[in-house]
Amino acid sequence: MNKLKQLLPKKLITNSFHKLYYYSRKTTWNSTSWLGLPISKCPLDLWTYQEIIFEVQPDVIIETGTGSGGSTLFFASLCELTNKGKVISIELGDMSDKPQHKRITYLLGSSTSKEILQQVQQLISDDKKVLVNLDSEHTKKHVLEELKLYSKLVTVGSYIIVEDTNIGGHPVKPDYYPGPMEAVKEFLKTNSDFIIDKNREKFYLTFNPNGYLKRVK
Ligand SMILES: C[S@@+](CC[C@H](N)C(=O)[O-])C[C@H]1O[C@@H](n2cnc3c(N)ncnc32)[C@H](O)[C@@H]1O
Repeated sequence: MNKLKQLLPKKLITNSFHKLYYYSRKTTWNSTSWLGLPISKCPLDLWTYQEIIFEVQPDVIIETGTGSGGSTLFFASLCELTNKGKVISIELGDMSDKPQHKRITYLLGSSTSKEILQQVQQLISDDKKVLVNLDSEHTKKHVLEELKLYSKLVTVGSYIIVEDTNIGGHPVKPDYYPGPMEAVKEFLKTNSDFIIDKNREKFYLTFNPNGYLKRVK
């Protein structure tokens, strides 16, 4: 009971700050850049990515949803710093203005299409350590499909990270329901190879609650 009393204010404070940060987007996550390029992520999550990438030392990072390419360049920069790995980034929209880097390969098309999956599989080989970041369309249907397709590529000890599980009322944008969080729940019902790594939420504010999925077998 005492523990619950201690936890309750913590949750309230965290959720209040989460909402303040999220709905102040003009000065927070819509005003965040990496090496001059917009990056739609919370800096605390970016630090968590850094920690995961250093620990896992992936050979390949697959990103669905390039956006402006800030996150793609962020991943490539970390690969450069660890002197390991390459980035495959998949985007539906225009690819002409994306940052160029020797460690980045862009694929144009939908992340869930057969063609894109085939290209991804050709670019990685079985023995490679693979990390996945899902940040394209944030509907439950699409994220669940991505989870089913891309989880197979993730190596044991590595992660598939589902972005923006905070929408759909967790605790922001309640109208965006069902979203990524609901896709994670559904996926885990039939997949025991992955666990939610709550340790990756240690900084309290994360846009990806329950979204850091670690492959354990
Ligand atoms: C949230 S933005 C990506 C933000 C970027 N990863 C970042 O952190 O800065 C989502 C992107 O996913 C793209 N997208 C939407 N549906 C997609 C799909 N089915 N396949 C690939 N990309 C998709 C959109 O065009 C958009 O650029």
